[in-house]
Amino acid sequence: MSDTINIGNTAILRTAALAPMAGVADRAYRLMCKRYGAAYVVSEMVSAKGICYSDRKTAELCTVTDEERPMAVQLFGSEPDFMAEAVKIVLDYRPDIIDINMGCPVPKVVGTGAGSALMKDIKLAADITESAVRAAGKTPVTVKIRSGWSHDSTNAPELARALEAAGAAAITVHGRTRDMFYSGESDSSIIKAVKEAVSVPVIGNGDVCSAADCVKMYEETGCDLVMIGRGSYGNPFIFRETEAKLRGGDYEPPSLETKMQVMLEHIRLILELSEKCEELAMHEARKHAAWYMNGYYGSAKFRGRCYQLSSYAEAEALAEEFIALQRSREINPQ
Ligand SMILES: Cc1cc2nc3c(=O)[nH]c(=O)nc-3n(C[C@H](O)[C@H](O)[C@H](O)COP(=O)(O)O)c2cc1C
Repeated sequence: MSDTINIGNTAILRTAALAPMAGVADRAYRLMCKRYGAAYVVSEMVSAKGICYSDRKTAELCTVTDEERPMAVQLFGSEPDFMAEAVKIVLDYRPDIIDINMGCPVPKVVGTGAGSALMKDIKLAADITESAVRAAGKTPVTVKIRSGWSHDSTNAPELARALEAAGAAAITVHGRTRDMFYSGESDSSIIKAVKEAVSVPVIGNGDVCSAADCVKMYEETGCDLVMIGRGSYGNPFIFRETEAKLRGGDYEPPSLETKMQVMLEHIRLILELSEKCEELAMHEARKHAAWYMNGYYGSAKFRGRCYQLSSYAEAEALAEEFIALQRSREINPQ
């Protein structure tokens, strides 16, 4: 297996990428995943029309720092002209790739004809892609899709062919239909079918929660790259683990102490990058803190306490208490 793939002229290590996740994978999250081995990261989705009408939040959502590269900025929209205009604005931020969201299942997005609604209109999906490709010049444009709108209309291979013909430089496939939202099982056979249908790189996504799942995704689908979303919650280590598993390097799972140190590193980054005061920025850190503590004795109780954190000092104290609780269980398992 080759060590890298190329999307346009961007080389990406063939390990695992971080999926776009609105409300989760902000710059602090992307930087953490990058530091712990993510091969490629994608921004939270940004509205093409929103960018065209106002630049409020555009810089916050579209800025690409060198530490994050290679990175894509992801746009969603349902009108080819707005998409082209938005692409031109986003190019000022010098993303390595521009990705178009054709998989979002949320009614607010689908109701405007964007996200996974485009899976029902292949002609419009291709027009939007073509328009973006023309506006993007040398910057590659990729598209992220689902397996289809519903179980009876899994048209990902047909759509992917049309997107490739429209100039898409790669296709990411999440193996669920829009109807499934995020439940049920992601179907890797549809990712394989897309891989067989197109010659541009295919990125496989859905339910990869461990390095072993990632290897399975490569083997079962023949995809060119694997993308991980929820499996990275409180677990940026998944990227290093995957890299080690694929490349044969050493991997030592993090101790609880290391996990808590990394959680605090993540919180410091959130506070550093936020323009809000410490107390409000801590609101953004709460869910992450709870995720880092997941899966241990007493996690549920600590989860509730994470959701009350309002300062970094409190997070430090909570981490210490959490470690002490786990250690006392080792000494006295009753
Ligand atoms: C909280 C959340 C936010 C998401 N936001 C986006 C988004 O902005 N753009 C996108 O293309 N997909 C988005 N997704 C979908 C993920 O990128 C991914 O396709 C999906 O979670 C399946 O992968 P996983 O099983 O590894 O999580 C989001 C998913 C979650 C859970």
